[in-house]
Amino acid sequence: MAARLNTSLQNTLSLFSKKLPSSPRRALYCTSTLESHDNAETFVLTTPLYYVNAPPHMGSAYTTIAADSIARFQRLLGKKVIFITGTDEHGEKIATSAAANGRNPSEHCDLISQSYRTLWKELDIAYDKFVRTTDPKHEAIVKEFYDRVFANGDIYRADYEGLYCVNCEEYKDEKELLENNCCPVHQMPCVARKEDNYFFALSKYQKPLEEVLSQNPRFVQPSYRLNEVQTWIKSGLRDFSISRALVDWGIPVPNDDKQTIYVWFDALLGYISALTEDNEQQNLDTAVSLGWPASLHLIGKDILRFHAVYWPAMLMSAGLNLPKMVFGHGFLTKDGMKMGKSLGNTLEPFELVQKFGPDAVRYFFIREVEFGNDGDYSEDRFIKIVNAHLANTIGNLLNRTLGLLKKNCESTLVVDSTIAAEGVPLKDTVEKLVEKARTNYESLSLSTACEAVLEIGNAGNSYMDQRAPWMLFKQGGVSAEAAAKDLVIILEVMRIIAVALSPIAPCLSLKIYSQLGFSVDQFNSITWDDTKWGELKEGQVMAQASPVFVRIELDAAEKDEEEKKPKDSKKKGKAKVKAEQQPQTIAEA
Ligand code: MSP
Repeated sequence: MAARLNTSLQNTLSLFSKKLPSSPRRALYCTSTLESHDNAETFVLTTPLYYVNAPPHMGSAYTTIAADSIARFQRLLGKKVIFITGTDEHGEKIATSAAANGRNPSEHCDLISQSYRTLWKELDIAYDKFVRTTDPKHEAIVKEFYDRVFANGDIYRADYEGLYCVNCEEYKDEKELLENNCCPVHQMPCVARKEDNYFFALSKYQKPLEEVLSQNPRFVQPSYRLNEVQTWIKSGLRDFSISRALVDWGIPVPNDDKQTIYVWFDALLGYISALTEDNEQQNLDTAVSLGWPASLHLIGKDILRFHAVYWPAMLMSAGLNLPKMVFGHGFLTKDGMKMGKSLGNTLEPFELVQKFGPDAVRYFFIREVEFGNDGDYSEDRFIKIVNAHLANTIGNLLNRTLGLLKKNCESTLVVDSTIAAEGVPLKDTVEKLVEKARTNYESLSLSTACEAVLEIGNAGNSYMDQRAPWMLFKQGGVSAEAAAKDLVIILEVMRIIAVALSPIAPCLSLKIYSQLGFSVDQFNSITWDDTKWGELKEGQVMAQASPVFVRIELDAAEKDEEEKKPKDSKKKGKAKVKAEQQPQTIAEA
């Protein structure tokens, strides 16, 4: 059964609404790119507003970690950042899950929305705005927006018949479904629905959308997702229903309280209503003046059509600017399937953070999953990566260096880092890698940005091994003086790593900064300029060394048990965090 509109009824009922104008209101869309903003500009970025049908899983946390890393990087560049996240609380899916949990919808929303906030706190997510779509100030803005679109002649009433996926909250095209009308994302059959609804005249925006994409191809990122969007548009845009007659849990349609506004039409406006201040007048123009258009919508690839087709058309209809960029990342998968609440194959983020800490979780997913592509999770890989990079390459280098400085220089720097590095090629290497990290952060290649920072750590480790300052100290005289300079150089490298890694592992970076003798306030006021060589000065006293990242070890007893078991009954031992750092090498001791 194909989704179809009863057009004769549409024609009759459109008499109730204003006549469609022959051409849509001209959109004032922005064509600037992320890189072309000047420093004073506000950087507004959003995560999707998460459905509160169930508490967050690692897939929801992934977008938010990435968004937080980007927000922190933009703050380092000196931008005023408005980082928006929140929860999407209306619609059939939420009402059904509230009922299944024996709660009334609003109680259910309060509870689950709070679990998102709690997780964000545990993951060190520093958002600026948290919007809930059940907030009355959001409702007021949705209604005002609806009225504008209606006044522009883009809303009419008609019958609709089609196949609906409740988990996607979307009518599906028969062509895109699997056997037995199963939704390809949720692997569950869609249900046949017939409703009398209000429709948004999306088809009117086909040409303007084509123009937006051809004039500003960077609007959709990564570029391979742009092709997908262009194909949808080319295949012909059909009007979509923006109200529900059978769903009570939603914002009533203005002038027709028998219908509620479609959850997507409602939720997308959260990106604008989030901008309002509690003490400000709650209207669309005020909200828009406080930061619209958004610089970047960060979303998963499954909701690209809503953000790159429906949303821009809705904004054009209301005469508002389009966001500057929509970036659709890939999925975290388990055994190749999208991890998700509906499929029940999720990874528990609360457990992961409690076991391994926020830095490890943030670092692993940003470093391991190329931003834009899918990525599979395995605990073995997780432990291997964070141990090798955070505990060894970074943590151990700092620990060894501070140990040598304490033993030989009373934990005090003997010379300015700029003087220490005169004629030392490591400084140039670090500068190049810092630049590589910056350009990759800017282009949202977060994994490559991480890689560049790690390369700085590798370069520091190689320098330490080549110079072997522990040997030089033993030789005394000018050799010992050179060794003392080497330690200053490596600690400056560590300081630069701390700044450059702070968007991704803020807690780890703070620990490094503190051990280098800086205060929390000094850390909190760092900017990207602080990646320049030369902040560590003669006389600066280092703090007591302690591991900045504790190695994760399989518990020894469990490992022994495992060894005793017959081969095929062996289970993996449980990972534990061990409060010890890699030992110094024998030669250094
Ligand atoms: N409520 C809508 C968004 C409205 S935005 C105005 C929604 N919510 S959701 O909770 O289902 O999904 C939120 C985001 O989480 C989406 O971007 C989705 O892609 C992302 N993820 C959900 N599962 C995911 C993975 N397994 N991996 C990565 N991201 C995934 O859609």
